[in-house]
Amino acid sequence: MRVHHDVWDQDVEQVLISEQELDEIVSRIAAQIDQDYKDKNLLLLCILKGSLVFMGDLMKKLSIPCEIDCMKVSSYGHGTVTSGRINILLDLHRQDLSEKDILIIEDIIDSGKTLSYLVSYLRINGARSVRTVALLDKPSRREVDYTPDYVGREIPDAFVVGYGLDFGEKYRSLPYVGILKPEIYTN
Ligand code: IMP
Ligand code: MG
Repeated sequence: MRVHHDVWDQDVEQVLISEQELDEIVSRIAAQIDQDYKDKNLLLLCILKGSLVFMGDLMKKLSIPCEIDCMKVSSYGHGTVTSGRINILLDLHRQDLSEKDILIIEDIIDSGKTLSYLVSYLRINGARSVRTVALLDKPSRREVDYTPDYVGREIPDAFVVGYGLDFGEKYRSLPYVGILKPEIYTN
């Protein structure tokens, strides 16, 4: 256990995906992208802030060249309840989308609203192709019919934190994905 995480480790009920397993998952996805995008013009699009850690690890494992960019959207109203409305807080400002094969890098897909919205948004804005990667998938929570092109791991319907994911901006720096104790978000 790392000393500087102890204060947050206490709020975690169970480690769902260990550092080592995350590393294996990210390596597997990187190998798939290497195969599928070797003749394309890859632009990795990080959806801030939750996908920051995943994006950093994933891009280091790619053998093919890529460019990176970021967008920031908000879908969550308060706490663990989704508001359903997607707001673009930081947009892409590029003139070259018609030459780019975009891979949206997302930490987790829940209702599906964020990813399905972003895919249509980028297509409307002229991207050559748009596909998606979700590190985590909670299929039982889907409200919009959307399946990511690459999924790291399916997880049950529990609120998870760590490896970039937060609750109230906390826990992002934990190196594993853990299930948050329900008393933390029901108080
Ligand atoms: P969707 O639009 O409902 O698919 O929401 C996806 C977004 O909700 C993700 O990018 C996360 O920011 C957030 N989210 C969904 N489930 C969790 C969770 O268990 N922990 C932390 N954030 C979550
Ligand atoms: Mg997110």
